[in-house]
Amino acid sequence: MAVFTYRSAEFHYSDTGSGIAVVFLHGFLENQSMWKDLISAIPKKYRAITLDLPGHGQSHNLGYIHTMEDMAEVVKALMNELKLKKAFLAGHSMGGYVALAFAEKYPDFVRGIILQNSTARADSHTKKLDRDRAIALVKENPKSFVRKSIPNLFRPKNRITMREVVTWVKKEALKTSPQGIVAALEGMKIRPDREVLLHFAPYPVLFIAAQNDPILPFKTLESQLKAEKVTPCVTENGHMGHIEDSEKVCKSLLSFLAANT
Ligand code: MLT
Repeated sequence: MAVFTYRSAEFHYSDTGSGIAVVFLHGFLENQSMWKDLISAIPKKYRAITLDLPGHGQSHNLGYIHTMEDMAEVVKALMNELKLKKAFLAGHSMGGYVALAFAEKYPDFVRGIILQNSTARADSHTKKLDRDRAIALVKENPKSFVRKSIPNLFRPKNRITMREVVTWVKKEALKTSPQGIVAALEGMKIRPDREVLLHFAPYPVLFIAAQNDPILPFKTLESQLKAEKVTPCVTENGHMGHIEDSEKVCKSLLSFLAANT
């Protein structure tokens, strides 16, 4: 693990392998450890970079609202630190929102985007109200919010069969600072729609959607899977595909990388 500084805050990352770079961006309440199974299956000819996003894992907060653009600037600062001119960005859920924010602002630095259990759409009105309710719960009792949220990310049957994994994810999620949780919720709530990128981006997009995702209903993703720039991949996972079936997600990622390098 290594550390770099951006706007006086410390950010933790790791950098393994060499060659074509893939920057992995975790989801809300997660941190870079969530990628461990996937990364261990990636051949060393790829450079795999993971990062704790602001307020998550061991990384510091930047403020009280972390917009997806703020988080994308941290990704850019890391690429500057590593002197990376171009990379694939692989984002899980909120990490996908960050990847799209990065790609919109810095298209020349993007080789391709991998969206896993994510969406290019903005929050619906109902979802924004859910975010406000979540923010109130976090302010009241952050630990209870985290403990209740994590199992709901998994496919119902996996909550039982993968009980130990769910407990581990919960333990990691509890490392997210309460300020970081609220700042991410506020940031996700105000993110713009970026679906246009799926149609007109100058780079390819792998879109991995899951039929049993309890957070992002599959029917809201179907038309995004048909967009011009998108290579679709449909799994039977819940919201945590990189953990629930890392083999399938990795296989799809590697064939996308091979087809686009
Ligand atoms: C995530 O896993 O990053 C979140 O569920 C994303 C969201 O709440 O929109």
